[in-house]
Amino acid sequence: MRPYASVTLLLHLLPFLSTCFSSEEYEFRALLSVRSSISDPLNVLSSWSNSTTSFCNWHGITCDGNSTSHVSIVRLSAKNLSGSLPFVLFSLPFIHTLDLSSNGFSGGIPPEAFSNLSSSLRYLNLTNNHLSGPIPLRSNGPNKIINSSLEILDLSNNYFTGGVPDGISDDFPRLKVLDLGGNSLRGPIPSSISKLRTLEFLTLASNELVGRIPPELGEITTLRFIYVGYNNLSGEIPPEIGNLTALNHLDLVYNNLTGEIPGSIRNLHKLRYLFLYQNRLSGPIPPSIYNLTDLISLDLSENDLTGEISEEVIKLENLEVLQLFSNRLEGTIPRSIAALPRLQVLQLWSNRLSGEIPADLGRGNNLTVLDLSSNNLTGGVPEHLCYSRRLVKLILFSNFLEGEIPGGLSGCRSLERVRIENNRLSGEIPPEFTKLPLVYYLDASGNGFSGRIDGRSWEMPALQMLSLARNDLAGPLPDSFGSGSIKNLDLSENHFSGGIPAGFGRFSELARLKLSKNQLSGPIPEAIAECKKLVSLDVSKNQLSGEIPAGLSDLPVLTELDLSENRFSGEIPQDLGKTGTLVFVNFSHNHFHGSLPATGAFLSANASSIAGNPGLCGGTARSGLPPCTAAVEKTPCRFSVFFPMAVLLILMLSVLLFLLIRRRRREHIYLKKVEINGNGVWEVRVFDEKASKGITANALSTSIKEGKFAVHDGAGDGMLFAVRNATDIPRIGWAEVTEMGRFRHRNVVGLAGACRSETSWVLIYEPVNGGRSLSVALTELSWEKRCRVAVGIARALHCLHLRGMLLHGSLTADNNVVLDGDGVARLLVNLFPPGIEEGKGAEYTEKSDVYSFGVLLVGLLTGRCHVDAEAGKHGGVVEWARHLYSECHLDTWIDPAMRGQHAEYRDEMIRTMELAVRCTSVDPMERPCMKEVVKVLVKSIEKPGPWISKIKRALPI
Ligand SMILES: *[C@@H]1O[C@H](CO)[C@@H](O)[C@H](O)[C@H]1NC(C)=O
Ligand SMILES: *[C@@H]1O[C@H](CO)[C@@H](O)[C@H](O)[C@H]1NC(C)=O
Ligand SMILES: *[C@@H]1O[C@H](CO)[C@@H](O)[C@H](O)[C@H]1NC(C)=O
Ligand SMILES: *[C@@H]1O[C@H](CO)[C@@H](O)[C@H](O)[C@H]1NC(C)=O
Repeated sequence: MRPYASVTLLLHLLPFLSTCFSSEEYEFRALLSVRSSISDPLNVLSSWSNSTTSFCNWHGITCDGNSTSHVSIVRLSAKNLSGSLPFVLFSLPFIHTLDLSSNGFSGGIPPEAFSNLSSSLRYLNLTNNHLSGPIPLRSNGPNKIINSSLEILDLSNNYFTGGVPDGISDDFPRLKVLDLGGNSLRGPIPSSISKLRTLEFLTLASNELVGRIPPELGEITTLRFIYVGYNNLSGEIPPEIGNLTALNHLDLVYNNLTGEIPGSIRNLHKLRYLFLYQNRLSGPIPPSIYNLTDLISLDLSENDLTGEISEEVIKLENLEVLQLFSNRLEGTIPRSIAALPRLQVLQLWSNRLSGEIPADLGRGNNLTVLDLSSNNLTGGVPEHLCYSRRLVKLILFSNFLEGEIPGGLSGCRSLERVRIENNRLSGEIPPEFTKLPLVYYLDASGNGFSGRIDGRSWEMPALQMLSLARNDLAGPLPDSFGSGSIKNLDLSENHFSGGIPAGFGRFSELARLKLSKNQLSGPIPEAIAECKKLVSLDVSKNQLSGEIPAGLSDLPVLTELDLSENRFSGEIPQDLGKTGTLVFVNFSHNHFHGSLPATGAFLSANASSIAGNPGLCGGTARSGLPPCTAAVEKTPCRFSVFFPMAVLLILMLSVLLFLLIRRRRREHIYLKKVEINGNGVWEVRVFDEKASKGITANALSTSIKEGKFAVHDGAGDGMLFAVRNATDIPRIGWAEVTEMGRFRHRNVVGLAGACRSETSWVLIYEPVNGGRSLSVALTELSWEKRCRVAVGIARALHCLHLRGMLLHGSLTADNNVVLDGDGVARLLVNLFPPGIEEGKGAEYTEKSDVYSFGVLLVGLLTGRCHVDAEAGKHGGVVEWARHLYSECHLDTWIDPAMRGQHAEYRDEMIRTMELAVRCTSVDPMERPCMKEVVKVLVKSIEKPGPWISKIKRALPI
């Protein structure tokens, strides 16, 4: 109760106050008290003052318009407000609408706040805040809500805990809209909810609710929208749901519902959206579903449904989306599907469907997405799938389809994703098919395609992934695919001949290259070493020769290197053993000679991965090689370190200095203007008197002169200076610096002061006692401590974002994260955006910070904070982590310093990596916002949440 004490007091005083003043006077004072009680960084409430204008003209306030004006509407959505909720607004005597959504209000709602709710309030919207604690409703006792006329209550997307309140129908009998989604509510859905006899919209989605869907729900015949997905509800779908004849939208996804879909569903004549995916529903698709002729979208995917899809599907003539994937459906795809005029999305993958794909599919539809993969389909690929000219995804892999790629498809320029692998397709790849402008993913592997792929034009500017593996293709390799963004190239198991084209060195995004099992000859071109993001290189089982290019040892994120069964010769470069990222090597059956490195990946290399090289010697005991006659120096090297160097001069220059208090001089800089030893006149502002005592003009001038980066690693009054050339950052002024100066957060190193001369800015951060950079401290940190670092930094970023502040660049364990003496992680915020030279004119957004945070998470998980292909860009590390995460066992990527903690925390670690992968999505839209990151981190560390499976679903097939 303590946090609410002042609020509670105020609420008790309210009745008293309102009898002392006229109502208008009371409203006026109440509004003023709101302004003074909440944090308003954007000053949106500046008009809320006791000047002469009527409060009816204040920002966000609307009065009822009568001559005796009273506040009827308060709308303050998305205004960056924070602090405790201003409960006085709840009880304004004439208030009708109160919208405080999308702010940073935090804390709980005390019972008094609801029991004093104004009886005139109809609309209360508190969505998207940081509210927590239980929803304080109870139908009897001292806090009973009297005579509420509330119709719309939106408490979604907060951190409310406890259960769905049992008394909600007594407290708010007139509710039409109830949204409690996106909280952490537990327990069952109370059957008393059925007493809400006027309810139209019910959202309880994304909570942790358990138990059955109460059959009594069927009594709320006014319901038009039910959204209770993403919970842990179990049992059967109650047949009473069929009584909800006004229902437009039914969404029960991601629960553990069992049993059959009730036949009573036939009565839902107005149903347009039916989403039951990701449950454990069994039995057939009830025939009554085909009577729901208003259906626009039907998704029953990821259940245990059996039986066939009926030809009656033709009755669903409004259907736009039909998703039945991952069930156990059998029989053929009904031919009548091809006659659904509005059908855009058809996903039937992972069933047991057989027979041919309807020959007319596409012609009578409006297809954009077609996924029939992983069935037993036979026959040819229909000619007209792209008849709509809008087909974006064509996914037919793992069937028994045969014949050629039809002409109607090869010029389908809307295509973006094509997966036709593992069928029996044959013939040449049509020339038009290699000129599709939007295709980023093309997998035609595991078919019988033949002919050559060189000597034609490849114009696929969007291509990122190309696999033609396991076909009968022959001839030389083309040296370009018309794409600068290719990441994954697999041409293995064909009959390609000739050399590896040097043009591959221009694939600057390439992460995986697989050319194994061909007839390639000649050397590996030196140019391959230009592919700085290469993670995996497999050229095994060819006739390649020559030496290993020295540049391979410099590839910063190389993890797998397979050169086996070729004719390579020469020595294995000792430097390869120093490549910290290399995990897997196979050099077997070549003509290598000399001593095998005994470090890095070669430590764990077993005999079979180097066998068949009679000239090799040395290595570790496991290698089974004879010792080399000449002693070879073995330097153990755990992992190599790449220092981002030159960039530092241009980037923000961080200088950490020791300033011993005793040697401090007298000339403290509290002054507005000071002259500093030959460095001109400076304007100085001090934000924290105490912390800034250590700043002396002398220290300042040293920092400006030295301008070099140093990590403070001991005790004492460490103070950090950031120096920046003022002409590079014309848009930064005292306003921005002062805002940062006022900002205080447990996980952020505050600004003690700042100075500006004509040419330079210097930011002075408060000293961090016993501070060490995260990268220095990392190896000693347990998993739990790393989690605390992650959560702390995430919270700090979230708060910065709420105030519109950004990091302006990367977040690295070297530069921006300091652990203080208490082990608390503190973020050093770089206020200065990089200059035009290195910033590429980049627009920094919240989503770039999320990316940077993802990179930090990768560092915390893998211990590889330093590995950095090009300073400021982390594509390599991210790609590397992504690869290991998707392909390899946790043991291969987790920081070796945390070995021993795997067993206990493995799920947490995997979930955290999953989050890191999301944060570093190439597409900023796919990255979560910091608020969600905090929520996910806290949840995933506390206990497994349902979000993990949500992400799985979002992954493209
Ligand atoms: C505003 O309020 C303060 C303190 O309540 C008072 O001293 C001042 O006179 C008021 N100003 C006006 C314009 O009402
Ligand atoms: C305006 O005042 C009249 C009488 O005072 C009242 O009946 C009416 O409801 C008021 N209008 C509004 C919009 O509140
Ligand atoms: C609440 O406010 C948000 C905007 O912040 C809006 O999107 C949402 O629809 C509102 N809820 C209701 C029930 O009106
Ligand atoms: C509601 O549905 C159930 C089961 O389908 C049925 O037995 C009952 O009669 C229905 N109630 C009303 C009021 O229609």
